[in-house]
Amino acid sequence: MEKLIIVEDNEEIRSQLRWGLSKEYEVLVAGDRPEALLLFKKHLPKVMTLDLGLPPDEAGCEEGFRCLEDVLRLSPATKVIMITGNEENENALRAVQSGAYDYYRKPLNLAELKVILARAFHLAAIEKENLRLQSSLDQHCLTPGGIIGHSPQMLEVFSSIRKVASSEVAVLVTGESGTGKELVAKAIHELSPRKSAAFITINCGAIPENLLESELFGYEKGAFSGANNRVQGKVEYANKGTLFLDEIGELPLNLQVKLLRFLQEKTIQRVGGREDISVDARIIAATNRDIIKETEAGTFREDLYYRISVIHITLPPLRDRGGDIMLLANFFLRKFGNEFRKKNCRFSPGSVKLLESYEWPGNVRELENRVQRAVIMSDEPIIEPESLDFSLKTAKERVHSFTNMTLKDAREMIERELVIAAIENHNNNMARAADVLGISRPTLYDLVKKYNIAKSFE
Ligand SMILES: Nc1ncnc2c1ncn2[C@@H]1O[C@H](COP(=O)(O)OP(=O)(O)OP(=O)(O)O)[C@@H](O)[C@H]1O
Ligand SMILES: [Mg+2]
Repeated sequence: MEKLIIVEDNEEIRSQLRWGLSKEYEVLVAGDRPEALLLFKKHLPKVMTLDLGLPPDEAGCEEGFRCLEDVLRLSPATKVIMITGNEENENALRAVQSGAYDYYRKPLNLAELKVILARAFHLAAIEKENLRLQSSLDQHCLTPGGIIGHSPQMLEVFSSIRKVASSEVAVLVTGESGTGKELVAKAIHELSPRKSAAFITINCGAIPENLLESELFGYEKGAFSGANNRVQGKVEYANKGTLFLDEIGELPLNLQVKLLRFLQEKTIQRVGGREDISVDARIIAATNRDIIKETEAGTFREDLYYRISVIHITLPPLRDRGGDIMLLANFFLRKFGNEFRKKNCRFSPGSVKLLESYEWPGNVRELENRVQRAVIMSDEPIIEPESLDFSLKTAKERVHSFTNMTLKDAREMIERELVIAAIENHNNNMARAADVLGISRPTLYDLVKKYNIAKSFE
């Protein structure tokens, strides 16, 4: 039998309700707020009725509203039916706005109340079933790499991953920053016969150009001053496994030639060495650049492009994945809720609207970061838009906050903000941040120094 708590200070109404409802429910009664909360914490019922006028404020409504607030804070999914006086229209509306499921005006009519209660229990059951389905859906939508999605576009990506995993062909993964390219590369490796061997990542955009060659191919003792030992390169480490060439669009032309040679011959030479070393590695490359355009422009070798893109998987931007936004948002909410020990987190309707309509320039990474921040910052289990930290200021409001500033100061303030945002959105990849800002890498480093922002990214 479902539990139902009735909070009512009037003895007579209380026993009337208990008597009238005990056939359908296990009825528990409380006469004031402290008693109600104790009972609630102990039994956690799905539904309760709550009289607005509780002692010590029998004639008012504040104690009732406080009780509603307390209960919803403990468990936002509880269906609370507020019992109000006959004439209290305003309070009835306020109750629903404060999160009560419904209200009922005295005098009580048992038959009517029963209908409301049955509906409330029914809804609670549906919500519970929904949660259960949602979490089994989460399981379903996971590929071994932990990639979540149920949009048609992502289901197609999953099917490509499964198809290419068992073969040896080179795969090129493209998509905007934060769309999950690395996750896809790892999933392919995990599903492939090479899964027990190494998955080696080389970030072509993060290693300084002069070190990249020895990082890739290793070097012999004495190859250059400071080369006191023979060192294996990452390509060699990937032998029998998978070599993930991240941000391959950043690879300088001279190294593109050397990489191509490796792909054709399946052998490498260490820097300063003559010996051909054969390496058997499966190649997966990723970039967020428009590599076809770069090939046309001559900054990326066409022959290398064909070698690495036997199969091309394109990840759609998050804003084009429809229902995936909330699927991912709720997944991250549960994940960080558990991690930071915040129970029963959920998004308010306002937050859902915002999440669904936002453009997500930083894609899934940005969503993950925002949800994490919201879970940490929010004191309540219900995540309101403020915690998601979207700047809701309109352009006009922004300009307004610049009045009394010199043009130079305002310019610099915006410049600083843009630089920080670009670096953050591109995961500290300076080459790419410079790219979106339309400046050279050295200029970006100058700005970082000028505005003293290096520290926060180290
Ligand atoms: N579909 C997804 N399901 C779950 N987590 C995801 C998904 N897509 C991305 N993520 C998470 O988002 C973050 C960014 O993903 P990833 O590093 O793979 O993106 P990327 O495309 O390589 O980005 P960049 O171009 O900036 O390198 C990671 O923390 C990853 O776990
Ligand atoms: Mg990446």
